[in-house]
Amino acid sequence: MKLSSRSIAGGGVSFLALALSVFLFAGFMYGADVRSIAGFASSRTSVQPEAAGHKEREAPSLPEGCDVFAGNWVFDNRSRPLYREEECPFLTSQVTCMKNGRKDDTYQKWRWKPHECSLPEFDGQLLWERLRGKRLMLVGDSLNRNQWESMVCLLHSATTNGEKSRALNGSLVIFRSREYNASVEFYWSPFLVESNSDDPSMHSVTKRIIMPESITNHARHWKGADYLVFNTYIWWMNTINMKVLRGSFKEGSTEYDEVDRVVAYERVLRTWARWVEENVDPKRTYVFFNSMSPLHIRPADWGNPTGLKCAMETLPIPPGAPPNVGTDRRMHSVAAKVTGSVRGPLVTFLDITGLSEYRKDAHTSVHTVRQGKVLTPEQKANPATYADCIHWCLPGLPDTWNELLFAHIITRPSLG
Ligand SMILES: *[C@@H]1O[C@H](CO)[C@@H](O)[C@H](O)[C@H]1NC(C)=O
Ligand SMILES: *[C@@H]1O[C@H](CO)[C@@H](O)[C@H](O)[C@H]1NC(C)=O
Ligand SMILES: *[C@@H]1O[C@H](CO)[C@@H](O)[C@H](O)[C@H]1NC(C)=O
Repeated sequence: MKLSSRSIAGGGVSFLALALSVFLFAGFMYGADVRSIAGFASSRTSVQPEAAGHKEREAPSLPEGCDVFAGNWVFDNRSRPLYREEECPFLTSQVTCMKNGRKDDTYQKWRWKPHECSLPEFDGQLLWERLRGKRLMLVGDSLNRNQWESMVCLLHSATTNGEKSRALNGSLVIFRSREYNASVEFYWSPFLVESNSDDPSMHSVTKRIIMPESITNHARHWKGADYLVFNTYIWWMNTINMKVLRGSFKEGSTEYDEVDRVVAYERVLRTWARWVEENVDPKRTYVFFNSMSPLHIRPADWGNPTGLKCAMETLPIPPGAPPNVGTDRRMHSVAAKVTGSVRGPLVTFLDITGLSEYRKDAHTSVHTVRQGKVLTPEQKANPATYADCIHWCLPGLPDTWNELLFAHIITRPSLG
């Protein structure tokens, strides 16, 4: 299904005057970072001449049967990065690696090339047009938030002139365009179901407890979105077993059972799948599920005996069989199985795990924040303790996840 390029041309001039409305709420989700965002609430960005000369073009399509998740990383400093770190005012200091002192920027210059086809070129104006009057919502843990920040920058850089902003309302962060009456939102629920880790400000819960069959308290905020993108993984990885509450938090229960995490994961995803079947209107909404975002904490996994977690890495793992970096493949299988079993709404499993496993170079490492503050030189000198090999620098790898999401959104009929 192709979208006519004519519909894009209609909004031509108004792109230049795109204004995004501001909703900033007393912030907790990003702690101290939020205050620095507030400073951008009404800043104007400069006009980018190349965007002003945007040409009409056919909506992209993907060849039937092309596996976009199987491919190689190709060095491409001509077309990458897709936006510049210093030109996106919405990035939190968690991910601005260059600003935080990273010296090499090669990690920004890799393009994902599927073996059997090419990904459509990311076209932010086309995506804005597709999102007109709609809501795109990412739901899950800090990796989906990482992807949300990337999407905000990709869309921000597709517009030229105007006030840019974002809103924070409890567990929900909203990036909105008044011009398009569209929003790109992130909802914090690291296990999707209810847990004792649902407070967006309090992230240091060591004894994590979930209620695998309770989802509606979160899910009522997801209703009415036109594109839903879910994930849940990293919060499961602390322990072999998951603590499952007996009773409910509301009743003050504290006793729990220890359940094998793969078993608990499947219970959670079954709850999620049932909610999707019963609450998502297939005539209106597309649903996506992101597979596991991998960690790179053992340099021996990629044959670097002198490595320190991911801190010394400046290049991806070379092409070849996907490296084993310790991703829980059993959880991957569960996610593939359960997302494939949903009846009714179209659920797409976005298998970003393998392609991300090559990217040992792309984590924030020591070029990030801790408790809202950029790491001190002493902390940076101690990667063994302080390197974050979970999250990703931006621009960077999550931009590719969004290119894949873009490809799936743009090559399908617009609903509702
Ligand atoms: C791209 O990389 C090549 C090889 O490292 C280099 O010669 C060239 O100057 C780079 N181009 C840009 C635009 O950075
Ligand atoms: C704006 O979008 C919302 C859905 O997000 C829709 O309900 C509303 O009618 C739209 N408003 C206009 C003026 O198009
Ligand atoms: C913030 O969230 C609350 C509860 O979901 C809602 O009632 C309120 O309208 C929201 N505020 C804004 C400005 O969106």
